[in-house]
Amino acid sequence: MSNEKKSNWDSSQLRKYNLTFTEIPRFDCDDPRTDELISQQKPVVILNSNLAASAQKWNLEYLETHMGDADYTVYLSRNHKFKYFDEKKVQKLNGDIGKGIDFMQPTKKVDMKLSEFIRRLKEWKRGDDRLYLQQGLNNTVGPEIVRDFVNFNWEFCNGKQSKHNWGPLTYNLLLIGMEGNVTPCHYDEQQNLFAQIYGYKRCILFPPSEFECLYPYPVHHPHDRQSMVDFDKPDYSKFPKFKDAKAYESVLGPGEVLYIPVYWWHHIESIMRGGHTITVNFWYKDSPNAKISYPLKDFQKVAIMRNIEKMLLDVLKDPKEVGPLLKTMVLGRFTE
Ligand code: SIN
Ligand code: FE
Repeated sequence: MSNEKKSNWDSSQLRKYNLTFTEIPRFDCDDPRTDELISQQKPVVILNSNLAASAQKWNLEYLETHMGDADYTVYLSRNHKFKYFDEKKVQKLNGDIGKGIDFMQPTKKVDMKLSEFIRRLKEWKRGDDRLYLQQGLNNTVGPEIVRDFVNFNWEFCNGKQSKHNWGPLTYNLLLIGMEGNVTPCHYDEQQNLFAQIYGYKRCILFPPSEFECLYPYPVHHPHDRQSMVDFDKPDYSKFPKFKDAKAYESVLGPGEVLYIPVYWWHHIESIMRGGHTITVNFWYKDSPNAKISYPLKDFQKVAIMRNIEKMLLDVLKDPKEVGPLLKTMVLGRFTE
């Protein structure tokens, strides 16, 4: 990477993948190129925004003292990967539509007090489940945290919201991860301002145009929006185009904010041997009244494909019939 910050981390702390990377641009929040990139729905690392400056003092001790005694959502994993799954889609699979489809939950979701989470983090040893806390900031937090939250730089993010015509803020997710944890490659259907608070996270992004190279699970699958490719051990016979995937990359440190555009793929890893990481995500709905203009953008085509898959499953009822029908439509008719 071009602007490796040698004093804070080095490339031996990054997992190795067979990908070629382009560095995500890094600009000051006042630099006009920041808004230019956001308006083109391209990622940018935003510097000096102070978006979560009031949380820069957050560390495990501070959070343990001030968060309160509520239960928090913690994922447990036997390995370093925390692949998201949709619980509603698991239930549907267990019902009628899932005939013959196996699904094993890769992680376990549990409720935990923050004090227990922190104790387990500190006492963690090789062979234990890894932990990743992922909790929406809600009204159970104590007054100090409320004050820090109120003091986020709302002017900055509300400004981005109105300038770029995003919909409402849906929520803020607090993530506390162990070093080496990985959130495997997926896309979200919202705009994300990803504010790094503590520790370093490596973010690997791909544009929506890389759909073909990343092989998302079918929409009805609990791993909807996730890539089927295992980055640690890609099966090129099943996923040959993964070789062509064009990746963007940045390592984010405290105080830096990454704009992850809606429908952009992202793989996030807490760097190895870097201690734990703390992040706060700001998720916004996409433009509620976006004008459609032609040619359509790549992310709009992804949305169309999702809708076609959903409609077909709605009428066919059996997910196993969706692929064959699409093949019948396409093969020899829309293929050379
Ligand atoms: C992470 O930080 O590990 C995941 C955040 C995201 O996927 O938006
Ligand atoms: Fe995400």
